[in-house]
Amino acid sequence: MTRDRRRHGGSEHRPPPSRKPPPPSGREWSRVLLVAILSCVIGLSAFGYGGYKKWILAMKVATLHPAPPILPPNSSSPAASPHLFWGSYRPQVYFGMKTRSPRSVVTGLMWLSQSGSPSLRHTCEQSDGLAGYGWLMHDGVNFGVQEIKDKGFTLKTEFVKRAGGRHGGDWSWRIVGTPDDPSAPSRLVSILFYVATDGQGSLTPHMDGRDRLSLVTGTSEELGSFTIHFPKPGGGAGGHLSFNHLVTFCPGLHHITDVVRSSLSDRFNHPAADTGNKRRYFGLDTHHPPPLLGSEHSHIIIHQVTLYLPAQVEILFESGSFAQRPGSLSGAALSTEFQMHKKNMEDRFRERFHLEEKGFMPEQVSFAQAALSNMVGGMGHFYGSSLVRSRHNPEPISYPPAPLYTAVPSRSFFPRGFLWDEGFHLLLIARWDPTLAWQSLAHWLDLMNSDGWIPREQILGPEARSKVPAEFVVQWDENANPPTLFLSLQQLLAGETVSPEGLQFLRRAFPRLQTWYDWFNGTQNGLLPYSYRWRGRDRDTLRFLNPKTLTSGLDDYPRASHPSDDERHVDLRCWMVLAAEVMATVCRLLGEDGKRYEESHVALTDNSLLDKLHWSERLGAYADYGNHTQNVALEWERPRPVPGQDPRDVPPPRLIRVVRKPPRLQFVGALGYVSLFPFLLQLLSPDSPKLGRLMDHLRDADRLWTPYGIRSLSKSSPLFMQRNTEHDPPYWRGPIWINMNYLVVRALHRYSQMDGPYREQALGLYRELRVNLISNLYRQYKESGFLWEQYNDRTGGGQGCHPFTGWSALIALVMAEEY
Ligand SMILES: *[C@@H]1O[C@H](CO)[C@@H](O)[C@H](O)[C@H]1NC(C)=O
Ligand SMILES: *[C@@H]1O[C@H](CO)[C@@H](O)[C@H](O)[C@H]1NC(C)=O
Ligand SMILES: *[C@@H]1O[C@H](CO)[C@@H](O)[C@H](O)[C@H]1NC(C)=O
Repeated sequence: MTRDRRRHGGSEHRPPPSRKPPPPSGREWSRVLLVAILSCVIGLSAFGYGGYKKWILAMKVATLHPAPPILPPNSSSPAASPHLFWGSYRPQVYFGMKTRSPRSVVTGLMWLSQSGSPSLRHTCEQSDGLAGYGWLMHDGVNFGVQEIKDKGFTLKTEFVKRAGGRHGGDWSWRIVGTPDDPSAPSRLVSILFYVATDGQGSLTPHMDGRDRLSLVTGTSEELGSFTIHFPKPGGGAGGHLSFNHLVTFCPGLHHITDVVRSSLSDRFNHPAADTGNKRRYFGLDTHHPPPLLGSEHSHIIIHQVTLYLPAQVEILFESGSFAQRPGSLSGAALSTEFQMHKKNMEDRFRERFHLEEKGFMPEQVSFAQAALSNMVGGMGHFYGSSLVRSRHNPEPISYPPAPLYTAVPSRSFFPRGFLWDEGFHLLLIARWDPTLAWQSLAHWLDLMNSDGWIPREQILGPEARSKVPAEFVVQWDENANPPTLFLSLQQLLAGETVSPEGLQFLRRAFPRLQTWYDWFNGTQNGLLPYSYRWRGRDRDTLRFLNPKTLTSGLDDYPRASHPSDDERHVDLRCWMVLAAEVMATVCRLLGEDGKRYEESHVALTDNSLLDKLHWSERLGAYADYGNHTQNVALEWERPRPVPGQDPRDVPPPRLIRVVRKPPRLQFVGALGYVSLFPFLLQLLSPDSPKLGRLMDHLRDADRLWTPYGIRSLSKSSPLFMQRNTEHDPPYWRGPIWINMNYLVVRALHRYSQMDGPYREQALGLYRELRVNLISNLYRQYKESGFLWEQYNDRTGGGQGCHPFTGWSALIALVMAEEY
């Protein structure tokens, strides 16, 4: 339970749960604006200029940046971007597709094992306890194949797209179910396919005879007219084959599971249909639809096929404007096109990453291919508005609704956009398909407000919101998050040769990038020149062993024990160096004046100033600075009843922090990821003695080194593996994280290529660490079926949430030695 609170952020400013009605949907937005303008006029006359100014300030947090958006209107439309129109952009479900539209028609898969205790599968849930699921191959655009290991059987889900017409073309699905044990009694399974509208468009069912739904025709604003075919499957193993369907309404996409579940549970009643093999199973019944829940937002049609495994089901989507179709995309034709895409991807992957040449076995190559496939196959398209707050509005308000095309950290646990994760995601995505990376960057930067702030967790639309506890939804506009998008830009612009696509992006993005830089430089600055401080730390020093810094991305990594304005954070300072460097490059490429970025970059990379602000001789490493004491502990406080008090009125015991020695201004004695940052972002000159000292810590098994990767906090550090509260287990206080390990490997590689006294040391460490990371992640994947959020520093075991094919997928780049 605690873990899902991570990354949600900003508890310092956490507002009380809003009692307001839910925020307006996209359609209501213009009405809201109108009301806003009216209230502004009324406000002007009622409160005069002061009230008006207050109102302007309150609205500012939700006012978008004035520059023209990087993505022109309609740039995701089927006319402008046909290849990316349809996609598996619903990472939160095991299998589903939608278009890159605000109110897309969505399609999805559910299944239900009718043997044993039936359980319906739909959205990716850790509690389903699947032995593995994820894309084996997915090229991000044309096709994908996924393997889902349920209890006793495996489902393979494939899709192939075909270009044609004016509305994003056709696609076909093939679902193949195989029992694990072919000799075991046959297993009866239902495959359920649904198509639903999201507030616009129409769907019409067409029957073949009384019971079998054979197709659905429909129209929608961006799809035009379309037909979905349900060809009759060739029959399951036992010959048993039944069809059910449901045509109904539901109040929103996040209620689809409820609708199906309630229809199924009413109907455990169906004698099996067209064979003598009569048995009962859970089936939908369209003649007795489940009671409607509130509004009728979505029209939904569900097609259920029940059969014995092994079996195979196909579903075909055909676009109405596709006139010269060379035959339907099913059966042998589907197999042929699938094989063609598969071969293209294998060839491209080989040419791109050279893993065979580096000596990897075919199985390890498949592992890297799966890591990449889950990264691009996990990209989603979301639409909606964030809830935001600033010091000027006591109640959260809605951000303007907008689309977001982004990768996600975890399909089960974090199926939405996270700002700092995305910068890491794009390092891999850009190497596979730069277009996808430019697209994501553009979407993210277009979310910037006029101050230059980007909400760091994007919970867009009711489907996304239904997964996040209400009190974590609101984003606070003083909170930053590491500007890792500069990391992706740095890579995309490396060598200073940019594709025309990239150059066009930069031209449009330039005003936003400038404002973004200025927002960080102006709001996250420290008291001393060239020092920086994360805002938004926990203020409640009684509750936490060490108040968290969620904004830094490193949540509970130890910082100064007593947050204050005197603090300076070395990781943020290093991010700012990177930002200045990339801005200077962008200016050079565009022929703009980049003098101020160059100057800032020179000043910030001055190693002697860096050492003065952040080198702690006692720690032998770089460090944060602030009001700090090491002598703190969590202790139980057990209030005693005052004489005469009813014992029931005595407050329960609680764990609170006690400070045994008062804090004073000093360097924070925590050795770990933060103290490595000047090395991680390669700011140290190759002959800096500090480089040698940091590498000594890296290789020290009593400090940072493990056989599985570099741990986040030194074993010798006082807060190593310490809980932060009763309910908060250690997160960035020991476990191994792959994004940071990628930066370590990358920096070692870089320093091993530069002349200097530590070159050999860097090379040795590089080779050892790279092998350790690859062998452990590969072994854990083989054993558990997943990539994980983090890895245990004692056993190497995957832990935290899974699958986590966000930045843990960077292992593919480590294998390919692409840095
Ligand atoms: C975008 O597309 C819609 C519908 O296709 C059209 O009505 C609208 O005018 C287009 N907007 C722009 C700016 O091209
Ligand atoms: C960042 O802020 C500092 C302090 O205000 C200023 O001196 C510096 O010029 C700024 N950097 C850029 C690139 O604007
Ligand atoms: C450090 O924190 C303590 C406890 O909150 C406070 O009394 C003290 O004034 C702080 N010192 C500085 C220099 O901020």
